[in-house]
Amino acid sequence: QLLKVFVTRRIPQEGMRVLNQSGLCKVSLWDSDEPIPRTDLLQGVSGAHGILCLLSDRIDAEVINAAGPNLKVISTLSVGFDHLAVGEIKKRGVRVGYTPDVLTDATAELTVALLLATARRIPEGVEEVKNGGWSSWKPLWLCGYGLSGSTVGVIGLGRIGLAIARRLKPFGVKRLLYSGRTSKPQMGTSLDRLVSESDFVVVSCSLTPETQGLCDKALFSKMKKTAVFVNTSRGAVVNQEDLHEALSSGRIAAAGLDVTTPEPLPTDHPLLKLKNCVILPHIGSATYSTRGIMAELCANNLLAGLTGSAMPSELAL
Ligand code: GLV
Ligand code: GLV
Repeated sequence: QLLKVFVTRRIPQEGMRVLNQSGLCKVSLWDSDEPIPRTDLLQGVSGAHGILCLLSDRIDAEVINAAGPNLKVISTLSVGFDHLAVGEIKKRGVRVGYTPDVLTDATAELTVALLLATARRIPEGVEEVKNGGWSSWKPLWLCGYGLSGSTVGVIGLGRIGLAIARRLKPFGVKRLLYSGRTSKPQMGTSLDRLVSESDFVVVSCSLTPETQGLCDKALFSKMKKTAVFVNTSRGAVVNQEDLHEALSSGRIAAAGLDVTTPEPLPTDHPLLKLKNCVILPHIGSATYSTRGIMAELCANNLLAGLTGSAMPSELAL
């Protein structure tokens, strides 16, 4: 008897191959690059033993009920799991797989790229070249902030935060400050000190009730006027109205965001009108090889959940 697996989107073939070659399951796929409508999700998971989902799928009690009593495992193609109602999932005895580690390098790399792009005003410069704004080499034009000799503060010293810090160090960063749940006492610092002393403030924490809206007016008001703020974790860690106010009033210098609320951000959103705000469409882990490895890991987590064996990466609930 083949076990039913529901996959909520087209995923890299590395993942589909693992599922199809296992001989364990019958896969039904939402065969699209666009998000599955909620009603189709609720229908699709019906009777499923396993669900392979994305960070854009909200997996809550309603979905678990729609799946029914067969459900053994939910495997998400992400390291973040704020889209999963973990309390509810745990209560039902359903196991969860996720994809830490394999996307750490790609995400840290993108964070450094976004930080440099924001601080050195690269998108603005590209735009000026295209629109004829480049009239000559000008001593006072398009100046930004450099990493050399700077202080960088990383909020959330997890796997990715640490990888970001390691990559920034060789740029001549003078001081690295960390704060976070697990920060080692000898390196950790208070959030207040971190934001007030840092030239670059990088957010790399997970979204939890404690970090929701953490970066708000009060926090921005403690930053240097020249501070560059970067977030590659989850949009909801930031109060976007407060960020808009901080950027438009010159309270801080610039912001680079790979994550927003909502995603996608509406094209008429006020943040998109600001030259000192660089916004990317949540592409932290988006390298060909990383996405392939994530899909493979995600599929292997799912299979392990179906067979009741040890998962390569199981989320401790
Ligand atoms: C990306 O944001 C992820 O959680 O994998
Ligand atoms: C810049 O191009 C310089 O030569 O200083």
